[in-house]
Amino acid sequence: MGSLQTAHPPEIQAPPLAVAPSATPALAVDDLHAAYGQSEVLHGLTFSVAPGEIVAVMGRNGMGKTTLMKTLMGLVPVKAGAIRVGGEDVSGLKSHRRVAKGLAYVPQGRMIFSTMTVQENIETGLTVTGARAVPPDLYAMFPVLLEMKGRRGGNLSGGQQQQLAIARALASGPKVLLLDEPTEGIQPSIIREMGRTLKTIRDERGLSIIVSEQVLSFALDVADRVIVLENGAIVHEAPRDGIDEAAVARFLSV
Ligand SMILES: Nc1ncnc2c1ncn2[C@@H]1O[C@H](COP(=O)(O)OP(=O)(O)OP(=O)(O)O)[C@@H](O)[C@H]1O
Ligand SMILES: [Mg+2]
Repeated sequence: MGSLQTAHPPEIQAPPLAVAPSATPALAVDDLHAAYGQSEVLHGLTFSVAPGEIVAVMGRNGMGKTTLMKTLMGLVPVKAGAIRVGGEDVSGLKSHRRVAKGLAYVPQGRMIFSTMTVQENIETGLTVTGARAVPPDLYAMFPVLLEMKGRRGGNLSGGQQQQLAIARALASGPKVLLLDEPTEGIQPSIIREMGRTLKTIRDERGLSIIVSEQVLSFALDVADRVIVLENGAIVHEAPRDGIDEAAVARFLSV
């Protein structure tokens, strides 16, 4: 290691690393507990997401998917445990600081600003980057948003609003994108298109994606790995290849 380092010009010399950089997870969650007041909802979750990996978090209604997303974003307080982005603990930071560290969030129900235009909606995502205008590559990824950039968000279809919410999240230049049930209320053909979009985003930008989902076929289409939540705990975790679909389906059935 030492002899290798002396071969580097000083300006690019990095401190010695215990592990190769690629081994640092994009996101690592360690024994995470979260509560609404006195009521603990997440009971010690531990998992990590590699750079460029897509992980689906599955579970029935009320099992803790949204609470996990909100806790990662700093919208629900961490009771115990750690959240690391690229190795750095962000669990004490406010939401906007976590966005600056590379987390971005597409909330359940999309939550776009219905009276603002498409362009204005995307611009709200630019705050941490210092950019003033929507980067052209975002519109290239979502041509329909370019076509409709002057339209009010509330006048878009559900699928278009979901694209808008994703574009807004990408505007902050994240390393890790969190999507909470993006397929909810969206028709099957648009769901398939969204699966392709997520994989393209990953392939082109190399970012990691955590997507919560109740539809197993979508999860198996997009995810490299599946995590199942039940009552705020991880009860099953498997890579997509070789996953026991029947076992996962049992967790999802009521
Ligand atoms: N603001 C809140 N205050 C108190 N309890 C809450 C609050 N939000 C959610 N909960 C409770 O936390 C648990 C987990 O809810 P959460 O919304 O995380 O589930 P979910 O998996 O996202 O469900 P869904 O699939 O319906 O969106 C549930 O028991 C829910 O009632
Ligand atoms: Mg939810």
